[in-house]
Amino acid sequence: MKNINPTSTEAWKELEKHFKKIRNEHMRDMFSDDENRAEKFSILWEDFYVDYSKNRITEDTRSLLLQLAEECQLEEAINDYFSGEAINRTENRPVLHTALRAAKDAEIKVRGENVLPEVEEVKTKIKDFSFEVISGARKGYTGKAFTDVVNIGIGGSDLGPVMVTESLKFYKNHLNMHFISNVDGDHVHETIKDLNPETTLFLIVSKTFTTMETLSNATTVREWFLRSVPEKEVSKHFVAVSTNLEKVESFGIDRNNIFPMWDWVGGRFSLWSAVGLSISLAIGYDNFAALLDGARKMDEHFKNTSFKENLPVQLALLSIWYNNFFKAESEAVIPYSQYLNRFPSYLQQAIMESNGKSVDRNGERVDYETGTIIWGEPGTNSQHAFFQLIHQGTKLIPADFIGFKRSLFGDKDHQDKLMANFFAQTEALLNGKNEDEVEEELKSKGFRREEVDRLKAFKVFEGNKPTTTILIEKLTPESMGKLIALYEHKIFVQGIIWNIFSYDQWGVELGKQLASKILAEFGEKEVSDHDSSTGTLLKYYLK
Ligand code: F6P
Repeated sequence: MKNINPTSTEAWKELEKHFKKIRNEHMRDMFSDDENRAEKFSILWEDFYVDYSKNRITEDTRSLLLQLAEECQLEEAINDYFSGEAINRTENRPVLHTALRAAKDAEIKVRGENVLPEVEEVKTKIKDFSFEVISGARKGYTGKAFTDVVNIGIGGSDLGPVMVTESLKFYKNHLNMHFISNVDGDHVHETIKDLNPETTLFLIVSKTFTTMETLSNATTVREWFLRSVPEKEVSKHFVAVSTNLEKVESFGIDRNNIFPMWDWVGGRFSLWSAVGLSISLAIGYDNFAALLDGARKMDEHFKNTSFKENLPVQLALLSIWYNNFFKAESEAVIPYSQYLNRFPSYLQQAIMESNGKSVDRNGERVDYETGTIIWGEPGTNSQHAFFQLIHQGTKLIPADFIGFKRSLFGDKDHQDKLMANFFAQTEALLNGKNEDEVEEELKSKGFRREEVDRLKAFKVFEGNKPTTTILIEKLTPESMGKLIALYEHKIFVQGIIWNIFSYDQWGVELGKQLASKILAEFGEKEVSDHDSSTGTLLKYYLK
């Protein structure tokens, strides 16, 4: 993996010139000038149809962006990524969440050892455990089957599992799933208040087993449990997922109840590991395995497909085009499925914790933009919330529209209405409505001339707002696996081109350190040296 400043490439310089040329071109004209545009800028892959023709690009833009990827040696970087090179150089680790979904007989070496046998061993443990809990063979301390499962974790140890269990709720069994993440005591107490310790299973999920939120919540839950249950029964109700076996044991969890993971799996990419135990419990191991299969298919597509036809590469390049040339600050992700309501917040961690960096791989301050701000909510709800700003605001917000051809309950009436909106929005964002069209419409509605003149400026839609449509056959564990992996690899490509390290997260440390210091001050009821704002706030809080 070479450290190449993207702005020093030929492609970047050409893109700057090209940008000046096409920045004001309207996509409406691009479509009317080329009847094959949709076909030229779309990719059909398995059950995914991705149409990126409603973007402010021409064939030249695409060629230059592809050239940029080549000049930044993306292909070599992909090989390093998949083969277990320590591409997370600031932590000296490989980045191998892809090994968790690799084919059984693959060979992926970390520090000289093939990790696949260990991965398979843990998968078998997840499978057996899930089967026992779901079937009722594994029981709580009074001999009753489990009815509730509580996942205690935060960040990657929460967002992935909660997002997938929500997304695949349709495939869920009888177990009631709960997720406790926030150190806000009201979160844990609200969750456990109606739970029965006899029939509740707790999963404590923390890669490091040092995370303050998770350890506090786990301690609170354990105390609550021990209020009515003898200590010797803890092992029947508490299991842990972690790399830190010693810390888990000293917390009082039986070694047999530990599902190991590895330092080469980043927290925000860990749902494929035992961190996804709650997923396997909620939807059964076979569905969990199908999720992994989907991700593996996307991995293979990403590894083996030319960049022009490569979904993660194309999505990443488009995002770079808007971020670095149009200076768009944010990107919206709008799933037209209520099941995917946690997908944007999951992506916020995956994308923003990865690419929110301002120092390049040489340790130099970058002089170009990196990570984008990600936000979104499901459609159609979001249409009635923030779409106004996307349509008529001053900011350029490229948006991914994710939809499914078939609904899960098969209600055609609702599905047609949902998808009519899905297509209508991207069409409206593309074409907009110009002054003539507004005048025409107002006149046809019988508005008087003065009224038309007074209102028309407010009713104009500029259009030319970029969208990418990801249309998937059906929401299944496999297609969900593909979708998540699509964004994971998009993150990777962007990090390579921006010449940053995507797989560390030093930026979250300072706040943690200061919180410990302030917590100690709370204990002593004495506020030490702070800036005057923080100092005054602390005194006010302690009063
Ligand atoms: O605060 C950031 C972070 O380190 C994330 O990267 C991680 O997903 C989360 O905290 C939780 O960490 P752990 O799984 O070690 O408890």
